[in-house]
Amino acid sequence: MALSENTVKKLYETRTLSDEEFLALLTTDAWDTLLCSLADRVRRQMYGDKVYIRGLIEFSNHCKNNCHYCGIRSGNHCAIRYRLSKEEILSCCKEGYSLGMRTFVLQSGEDAYFTDEMICDIVSSIHALYPDCAITLSIGEKSKESYQSYFDAGARRYLLRHEAASDALYRKLHPENMMLSARMQCLFDLKEIGYQVGAGFMVGAPYQTSEDLLSDLRFLQKLDPDMIGIGPYIRHEQTPFANFENGSLTLTVRLLAILRLMFPHALLPATTALSTIAPDGRKLGLQAGANVVMPNLSPVSVRKLYDLYENKNCTDEESAQCSYDLKQYIRSAGYQPVTDIGNVSRT
Ligand code: 5AD
Repeated sequence: MALSENTVKKLYETRTLSDEEFLALLTTDAWDTLLCSLADRVRRQMYGDKVYIRGLIEFSNHCKNNCHYCGIRSGNHCAIRYRLSKEEILSCCKEGYSLGMRTFVLQSGEDAYFTDEMICDIVSSIHALYPDCAITLSIGEKSKESYQSYFDAGARRYLLRHEAASDALYRKLHPENMMLSARMQCLFDLKEIGYQVGAGFMVGAPYQTSEDLLSDLRFLQKLDPDMIGIGPYIRHEQTPFANFENGSLTLTVRLLAILRLMFPHALLPATTALSTIAPDGRKLGLQAGANVVMPNLSPVSVRKLYDLYENKNCTDEESAQCSYDLKQYIRSAGYQPVTDIGNVSRT
């Protein structure tokens, strides 16, 4: 179908479109400028010019899952595996705190070495030392009881990308033992417990069609998450998908703008993957409505080992230690970097 300017304005005003309209919007670059300017208007209404800086601590790259796209998949025997100790994690937080950060995101592969007890101990230690900080976990699929125990220990946010809301695509990206229904159940469990929940997906993943992306948008409408993380798929040599093309910068940026218009309140990161595929990727993401960046607080010695995809950006600008540069970068994009707790704004 042919789109008009009015369709884009309809998305801005009503926050949704018909399936046909979404599909048309996803497959043309004709409205990208208008989409981005409306998305920027909405983010300024909701969040002003603030961009929240979160400290990311990638504390283990051991993973029991064997996702076909991911460099730290269990089947990648070339990956050099590491785990941070509790003390190392706490020292990352200390450094982040001294840089002004008031949110710590603890991310890892699905690593059974870290029992619920250990996770709760780490979370409650951070919570006791830094009661003014938000603790975000991103450690994969767990039982509702486990999620509840982390919440009781002080975690308040949880990131778990759904990866693909279309069952057919989910199966193509994951081994048979991984189930989309289980992943979705996790997201609803997390919401019910009271977490601020983040879902998300890769853009341009192998086999992904526009219809698959439409399923992602519809699933997100059902879940109504507080955070949505998207980034381009990026190839990794030691995966079965090594020969697939990277996802596109323009489609990722277009989707960020669409998501900002659909979910005015959402916290949308300009992801590391976006800054990896293009030098100005993060800036374009911010200008399309993204309002979060998550620089890496992990020790420099392990940073390269959290190797999800090739050339993962761990340069100076990415690293938390160079937060001055990151702040300058955010200002140069037209926004104001802030390190405060930055809760979701649903008013
Ligand atoms: N390219 C881009 N993103 C990837 N992720 C994993 N592997 C890749 C890849 N090859 C994303 C997944 C996961 C998040 C931590 O990183 O969406 O949820």
